[in-house]
Amino acid sequence: MIDDKIQNNRLELMGRLTASLMHEIRNSLSALNLNLEFLQFYKDDLPKEVNETIDSSIQATDRISKFTENLLHFSKKSEMKFELVSLNQITAEAIDLLKIKARKKNVTIFCDLDESIPNIFVNHNHIFQVCMNLIINAVDACSEKGEVKVRSYKEKTADSNLVVWEVRDNGKGIPEENKEKIFSEFFTNKKNGTGLGLSVCKKLLNNHKAELSFESEAGMGTVFFVKFNPKLMETLNDG
Ligand SMILES: Nc1ncnc2c1ncn2[C@@H]1O[C@H](COP(=O)(O)OP(=O)(O)OP(=O)(O)O)[C@@H](O)[C@H]1O
Ligand SMILES: [Mg+2]
Repeated sequence: MIDDKIQNNRLELMGRLTASLMHEIRNSLSALNLNLEFLQFYKDDLPKEVNETIDSSIQATDRISKFTENLLHFSKKSEMKFELVSLNQITAEAIDLLKIKARKKNVTIFCDLDESIPNIFVNHNHIFQVCMNLIINAVDACSEKGEVKVRSYKEKTADSNLVVWEVRDNGKGIPEENKEKIFSEFFTNKKNGTGLGLSVCKKLLNNHKAELSFESEAGMGTVFFVKFNPKLMETLNDG
């Protein structure tokens, strides 16, 4: 039941990103790349400008190819496999995919990632999905010229060293009367929303013994915090 919901939400995100086209794009891209590499064989016979055009076309296909690889990775049905991964790397992958969506809305995504945070023991796909959901919500909340800032940093509490990931937006904020409701399944105030994003995030993070919280002021903006406790997570493989 829970798995069904997670999968539904993933499909919803996939739909938004038109990922059903990814395989097709990838195949055409390989053909294009091969053709460009073939042209490079004639490098010495071609004018400088043509060579430069070929080089920049290869760079562009490489970029699209990275983009599609990320999306394909995201869409795979993931088993509960935990591994040591870089949260900053996951964040960069998510932002890479969402930049276009944000740019279309004239929203800028900034990031400030602490390079000294330790790798954490997580399910890569699940944490990627959490980052995607939270950043998409932040972008959705913004109006034109909005700003979304993603940060990672360390936080010391009395008995633990936490790794914190946060996403802050200067969007419309969450009115007091909705603060209790946003984690409920199917609560949404978006025309095309499923209202599953945050409840799925909560469940996925629960599996990682991580906490999800937020602060928000209507009209000012919102910040969502994800707090990982590396000490607690060491026991994840034991169930
Ligand atoms: N950063 C945010 N700023 C303002 N409101 C937010 C923010 N994040 C979530 N919300 C509110 O919480 C609701 C529930 O979010 P959730 O991600 O669960 O579903 P959704 O975004 O509406 O739908 P879906 O995730 O399927 O697109 C949103 O509809 C919105 O009202
Ligand atoms: Mg959402």
